[in-house]
Order: sequence, then C-alpha cells, then structure tokens
Amino acid sequence: MNLKEIKNEFEKLIIEIKDEKKLYELKVKFLGKKGMLTEIMKKAKTLEPTERPAFGKNVNEIKEYINQKLENKKESLIKKSVEEKLKKEEIDITLPSRNIDFGGINPLNKIIEDVEELFVSMGYSVAEGPEVETDKFNFEMLNLPKNHPARDMQDSFYITKELLMRTQTSPVQAREMLKAEGKCPIKIICPGKVYRRDNDDSTHSHQFTQIEGLVVDENIKFSDLKGTLEHLIKTLFGKDRKIRLRPSFFPFTEPSVEVDIAWETEDNNGEEKWLEVLGAGMVHPNVLKMAGIDSEKYSGFAFGIGPERIAMLKYGITDIRIFYENDIRFIKQFSKEVEEK
Ligand code: PHE
Repeated sequence: MNLKEIKNEFEKLIIEIKDEKKLYELKVKFLGKKGMLTEIMKKAKTLEPTERPAFGKNVNEIKEYINQKLENKKESLIKKSVEEKLKKEEIDITLPSRNIDFGGINPLNKIIEDVEELFVSMGYSVAEGPEVETDKFNFEMLNLPKNHPARDMQDSFYITKELLMRTQTSPVQAREMLKAEGKCPIKIICPGKVYRRDNDDSTHSHQFTQIEGLVVDENIKFSDLKGTLEHLIKTLFGKDRKIRLRPSFFPFTEPSVEVDIAWETEDNNGEEKWLEVLGAGMVHPNVLKMAGIDSEKYSGFAFGIGPERIAMLKYGITDIRIFYENDIRFIKQFSKEVEEK
C-alpha cells in the first residue's frame, strides 16, 4: 500500500468505529510500533537521498492527520455515550407518582406531646433519666429504704442487687433535685418508659409510660398541686369533665392523692365510673433533705401521670397492648382522630 491507499483505508475504517475500544485498535493498526505508517517509513531507506525529505514530510503529515481524526472521533464517541445515558435516564415528569405510605403519630405519643407542651408553656423544663436505674434512686432516695414494705407495690425487674429497670419516673425527681444543688425553683416534667413485673393483659403491661412532674420552691402548697392537676385534666378533656381526688399513699409524698377521671361510655347507665390516671402529693420532707434541699425553707409537689390511661379514656381504647404493637391500621385510625381534636 502506498501512502494514499493507507489514507483511504483509514478513512474507510474510521467511519465504522462505534466504541472507544475499536478506536484504540484502529490507532494501533495505523500509528502503533508495528503500524502501517511505521512500516512505510522503513521504505525511506530504499529511496534516493534527494527524495527522502519529501517522503518523510508526507508520512508525517498523514500521521498528524490520522491522529487528529482519531482525537475528534474519540470526543464524539464520548459525547454520544453521555447523551445516550442521559436519554436512558430521562424522567417523565408527566407520569403519575407512586403512593407514599405515611405513618401516623401513636396516640400515646400524642398525649405525651400535648402534656409536654402544656407544662413547657407554664415554665417547666423537660428532664430525662436512665431506664436502667440504681436501687438508690428508684427507691432509697424516694424514702423507700431496703426492706420497706411499700416496695411490694412495684414488682421490679432487677438486673443485679443494686440495678433494676426503673419502676417509675420518680427517680428523676431525686436526680433533678441533686443537680439543682439546693437552689430553687425547680420545675420539671419527665416523660419516659417504666417497667414492672406484671403479666400482660388488656389493662397491664410489663412496660408502660409515665410523665413525672416536680415543682419545688418557697410556699408551694397543696392548692397549687390541685390547681395544676385540674388545669391539666381540663386541657386534655375539656372543662366539663369531672375529676376526683382520693387520699392515697406514696412513701415519697405526704399527703398523697390519686386522681380519677369520670369514664364516659354508653354502657354506663347513668352510673358514675372512674379511672385512676395519676398519683401525686406534696414532696415528703425526707426526700427533699436527702436531695440536699432545705425542707424548712422549701416545699414542693410531685405527680406521676399514666399517659396510657389518659389515651384510653380520651380515645376509647380498651386494650393497652395495642399501643405497643405499632400496627399501622391502628395508628392511622387514631392519628386522624388525633388531628381533628
Ligand atoms: N411514682 C408513682 C407511681 O408510680 C406516682 C407518683 C409520682 C406519686 C409522683 C406521687 C408523686 O405510682
């Protein structure tokens, strides 16, 4: 092949090239160490010395020409493959979208959020405490020394002799008072999970939730507690809902009360039915003292709300276990009702 034929051959072949690999092979075929142009260069030796420079110049021009063509082809191949890729990935924005399945707020969490919001608006802050608690905070600091009979009221999951799953959120009272280092006022609420050794049934669960409240300051009286609880219940259930305070006993409050809410169902037959929703009382002076608070100067009240009970009353739920199953059919029904309220 002479130079002209080589050039023609190249023009013919390059048109058919469709990918970069083939393009590289073509480059090797023409410009490689054993390529056609290298081979033809060897012919220079057989030429007359006067003809050699012109021949060499011709070969080099063709080399450059081929090189340039190869580069151009490479660029256009890359451009084409990018375009193809973009086309393949094109999104048709006129297609209808797939349905996205939304969850909903568990009614229990909704109650907790409502209660939090109410108390935060009254200047309380939200505290937290550990679910794996020491015997000291869960009981001793709350005026329940070892072997105190009232410990039986709360059958506990012990991990070691000194560690247990907290049976109540009340240990957070002691923790927060210690943190305050004798300085008042203290105004906190603490929502959280608690654990008791109960057999699960429609009204009992080995794990449930409580919302603890604590206020300590000068001149805190029982009437402050009563007013606060009434305000809470009226906010949650409307101003006409009847409530009742019953004297009760907790080792860490004196006096102590339990609060019942009138249970409104159709099968009441006009009869009054009540459901206990929280325990409360004036913080026992021993509890203040143990936490380093001057019980002569300061007094306080505390309460422990059962959000499950509140949610059951508010939404007419009859089985406590359903709160923890997170069945989307349940959650959705109530989140709709929750939104409307
Ligand atoms: N911790 C008590 C319980 O679990 C409730 C309570 C809290 C009572 C605070 C009085 C004050 O039953």
